[in-house]
Amino acid sequence: MAAVAWGRCFPRVWLRRRAGPGCGRHYRAALCAELKQPLAIEEVASCPVRPHEVRVDVHFCGVNFADILVCRGQYQEKPQLPFTPGMEFSGTVLETGTDVSTVKEGDRVIGVSGFNGMAEECIIDHKVIAAAGSDEKCSLAMRKGAQSIVNYSQGSLKEAVRKLVGSDGVNVVIDAVGGDVFLEALRSLAWEGRIVVVGFAGGTIASVPANLLLLKNVSAMGLYWGRYKEQNFPVFSRILSSALQYCQQGRIQPHIGAVFKLEEVNDAFLHVIQRKSMGKLRQRPQKICYVASEEK
Ligand SMILES: NC(=O)c1ccc[n+]([C@@H]2O[C@H](COP(=O)([O-])OP(=O)(O)OC[C@H]3O[C@@H](n4cnc5c(N)ncnc54)[C@H](OP(=O)(O)O)[C@@H]3O)[C@@H](O)[C@H]2O)c1
Repeated sequence: MAAVAWGRCFPRVWLRRRAGPGCGRHYRAALCAELKQPLAIEEVASCPVRPHEVRVDVHFCGVNFADILVCRGQYQEKPQLPFTPGMEFSGTVLETGTDVSTVKEGDRVIGVSGFNGMAEECIIDHKVIAAAGSDEKCSLAMRKGAQSIVNYSQGSLKEAVRKLVGSDGVNVVIDAVGGDVFLEALRSLAWEGRIVVVGFAGGTIASVPANLLLLKNVSAMGLYWGRYKEQNFPVFSRILSSALQYCQQGRIQPHIGAVFKLEEVNDAFLHVIQRKSMGKLRQRPQKICYVASEEK
């Protein structure tokens, strides 16, 4: 399997209404015409591939929390309306442009758009404490390799971590929830610990009490992985290749929590908003085609 990234913003490509010369094909796409409104499924015309582009028959598209934020206008990047959300996909190559040499028709590929990444799991080399809001999610994390779990809906995250590791604290926290979860995690750090801000699924962006950074020589840092596509493409590409390799070697096994059809895109969004999602949500577009360029 190969990785494909594209420079041409694919939502606009999806929405190109006029078929180019020799292109009579149509496909369906989910459309966000108005922010904070349900998406519609529309039939759109294919356009010809440019020399550096690849046309992909999309088999599955990831449904991410960030897709919902984009459709509400609450994401850090705001595509022009109307647009089609969707930040990652897998599928097979239907057609390649004349300059493309790394993939060919029939190849299985994955792709990541300008918004975020595809991997939903990380390699576990050290002792990992997984924190989640339900026992079901905690037990999934245990099955996937965590050594300990904390259900933060049942009490203080900081106290639970203290019981697990003592007063020394933890070395690294990766936080995608924000708000009080972030603050409790920050207070659980060890001397010279690091907290990585990944997202704010809980809806609250916490302010960092700077004294906590000073007291234990702690660092708070941000990670916007998808931006590496623009800022440092070799890093972006290397990470994607490693993730694929780890999957092929069985070192990581992404959990598919639910699969929705394209027509069920609004149900899929609801599933995520209601905190029912576990692992990766996928959408099965069925015969949607779009164009992705091979390189930036
Ligand atoms: N920086 C990056 O490169 C990057 C990459 C991917 C995602 N993100 C960001 O990370 C955040 C999470 O994205 P994700 O794809 O990991 O989502 P996800 O898999 O759906 O996870 C979100 C989880 O957050 C928890 N949560 C707590 N309060 C919530 C609330 N009020 N509403 C919904 N969920 C809530 C829920 O778990 P519990 O029920 O267990 O609490 C939920 O399952 C988003 O803000 C996204 O934009 C950033």
